Amino acid sequence: MEIIELDPADGDLVSGAFDVMRATHAADHPENPAPHRNTFVKGLAYPPPDEDEAHYVAVEDGKVLAVMGIGLPNRANLHFAWAWINVHPDHRRRGIGTALVERFFAYAREHGRTELTLDTHMTWEGGVERDKAGQLFLERHGFKLALTCINRRCAVDALDPAVEQELLEQAQAAAGDDYEIISWIGRTPEELIETMARIDSTILAEVPLGDLELEPETIDADLKRAKAERGEAIGIVPIQTVARHRESGEVVANTAVFAHADDPGYTDAYQGITIVDPAHRGHRLGLLLKLVNLRLVRERYPHLRAIWTDNADVNAPMIGINVTLGYEIVDAVGEFQIKLDS
Ligand SMILES: CC(C)(COP(=O)(O)OP(=O)(O)OC[C@H]1O[C@@H](n2cnc3c(N)ncnc32)[C@H](O)[C@@H]1OP(=O)(O)O)[C@@H](O)C(=O)NCCC(=O)NCCS
Repeated sequence: MEIIELDPADGDLVSGAFDVMRATHAADHPENPAPHRNTFVKGLAYPPPDEDEAHYVAVEDGKVLAVMGIGLPNRANLHFAWAWINVHPDHRRRGIGTALVERFFAYAREHGRTELTLDTHMTWEGGVERDKAGQLFLERHGFKLALTCINRRCAVDALDPAVEQELLEQAQAAAGDDYEIISWIGRTPEELIETMARIDSTILAEVPLGDLELEPETIDADLKRAKAERGEAIGIVPIQTVARHRESGEVVANTAVFAHADDPGYTDAYQGITIVDPAHRGHRLGLLLKLVNLRLVRERYPHLRAIWTDNADVNAPMIGINVTLGYEIVDAVGEFQIKLDS
């Protein structure tokens, strides 16, 4: 068995890597959204603009047995490296996972990174049972649980229409006339790009991060455009709704759902970060934006059946909104952390 860097141009190895991802999903967490072939393949050639990526595969007799993705933020958080590992279910307990973790450590050291994370699915009360292999494996390698996020799923039509309408009207009444609600699909309108960059830059300071030591990344208009280009290249479309404060002209609340919009066979979508500026909380803007956006999702992409979200277990206000909307627990993802000597 050898560990080699995955060349995005090597079609056989890329297919083999994707097959391992699919087999891991089927064996370990089949209820969660399945990996998407096109997005994986295109993503290899088109990494996010604020992150450098590398992929490694474990290969034996020409067959891919395991795959690892590594991400290195390249604008902020230069001490940080994250990765994911999938070992094919038929080839576990042979030291392949360990060989990949060792490659991850070496790679991180080569790039001067000292805080490393890997994640794994875990059981969460009220959800489905998950195998403990990932957690035991990570603890065996010295990682400690730093942040737990709960995965919840919501059918796009979870609420009774009359209940949904009532919630919307209550939220509209609470928000009053101070805010203009604006929705779009795809790229951020140019006239909003500066104010959207401002609110995006606050995200890391506002979401609970557990023991992860991450600093807010400054997002500017050029980075937003580059991220939008990347989304288009890998086939992921944002469906977005924001609140603009009429007096200041600033966007003060934002929500987005991301979908493989061109693939009618793929019925899951992902809820991205929802954020309300601290000075504008308490007006039900979070609930209002999510309801307006949900209606847009249903109207424009009728093939979508469910939206998935992951919230830090301690994020009570966001979880409260999600439960109101009909989100139900599926499982959790544990972010495990290790610090290397610099
Ligand atoms: C977790 C995972 C990567 C382990 O891969 P692997 O190739 O089987 O790991 P290794 O053979 O190198 O195991 C190393 C050690 O981890 C621990 N471990 C691994 N799987 C375990 C299990 N099912 N139960 C208990 N301990 C386990 C053991 O201490 C093991 O050493 P041992 O076999 O000598 O007892 C693999 O099960 C997997 O892909 N799981 C699904 C995806 C996932 O959760 N990935 C996140 C973890 S990075």
